[in-house]
Amino acid sequence: MSVEQKRQEQQGRQERSERSVTVIGLGPMGQAMAGAYLDAGYAVTVWNRTAERAAELVARGARSAPSAEAAVAANELVVLSLTDYDAVFAVLDPLDPAVLKGRAVVNLSSDTPERAREAARRLAGHGAGHLTGGVQVPPSGIGSPESSTFYSGPVDLFQRHRAALEVLTGADYRGDDPGLAQLYYQIQMDLFWTSLVGYLHATAIAEANGISAEDFLPYLSSTAASLPGFQAFYAPRITAGDHRGDVDRLAMGLASIEHVRHTAEASGVDSALPALLAETFRRGVEAGNGAASLTALVAQFRAA
Ligand SMILES: NC(=O)c1ccc[n+]([C@@H]2O[C@H](COP(=O)([O-])OP(=O)(O)OC[C@H]3O[C@@H](n4cnc5c(N)ncnc54)[C@H](OP(=O)(O)O)[C@@H]3O)[C@@H](O)[C@H]2O)c1
Repeated sequence: MSVEQKRQEQQGRQERSERSVTVIGLGPMGQAMAGAYLDAGYAVTVWNRTAERAAELVARGARSAPSAEAAVAANELVVLSLTDYDAVFAVLDPLDPAVLKGRAVVNLSSDTPERAREAARRLAGHGAGHLTGGVQVPPSGIGSPESSTFYSGPVDLFQRHRAALEVLTGADYRGDDPGLAQLYYQIQMDLFWTSLVGYLHATAIAEANGISAEDFLPYLSSTAASLPGFQAFYAPRITAGDHRGDVDRLAMGLASIEHVRHTAEASGVDSALPALLAETFRRGVEAGNGAASLTALVAQFRAA
């Protein structure tokens, strides 16, 4: 073997060892993540509580570690994709702390900001780094640079592993506080769940009146498309504490949501959702904000 061949082989070995990752947790998300790393040419070690879920990835070239401890020991970069942080602690707590030392744990499991801070503290106690991640796409979005994940934690750790993280999705670094990525993730989920349930409730009223979900779709889309305009108008006013009721009034909102509630009831549809909104608006009106904008609700929510 020539000197040049030896050099190339050594370089290849070095690159291969740099491009290696462990993925722990093989639900739909972890499966997609390990698959994206395999597609990108990484050496991938996987571990899952239910071992059979690794079979397809192993057939594609992943190595299945015999234990969580062996999986963590295999690579510096360890990606966790578990149901929640109870699962994270159930996997990490029994490990020999010596195995965790020097590891970069990228925790893409969802939970609260405080639990992310707790995980970072516990791992720091074992000499391991922790990056919190909040993935904003379903498994089908993994492997696409247009998708995005919030990250927070030590910036040097993020920079060191950024290229590897970007194999999964685009990376949106939010700051040093380990809770930040989950905070950004949870406020997105707040918006997502309430919007989606609003859509499903409206569809139930539509269907109860013979309008199919598909017939409703174009009208739904135009209402949904109007929301960014409202948000762009409201955001600077909320920041400035300006809740003038010059374009909308909470009292109008209360009357309107009561009409929705009565329409739901008359349609034989569960009206608990509009009733909850009506109750929220009514509290604002009773507190003297009837002539103020709906944005007065932000302060009302915060005072709860
Ligand atoms: N799916 C999505 O669309 C989506 C989108 C954005 C973010 N996320 C977040 O990404 C994370 C993973 O999502 P997913 O859909 O893959 O979740 P999932 O179906 O709940 O699976 C997660 C994994 O957690 C493991 N697990 C749960 N409890 C455990 C325990 N006590 N000990 C060891 N392993 C345990 C499961 O192992 P077993 O196979 O043995 O049960 C499974 O491999 C979640 O935090 C989720 O909120 C998901």
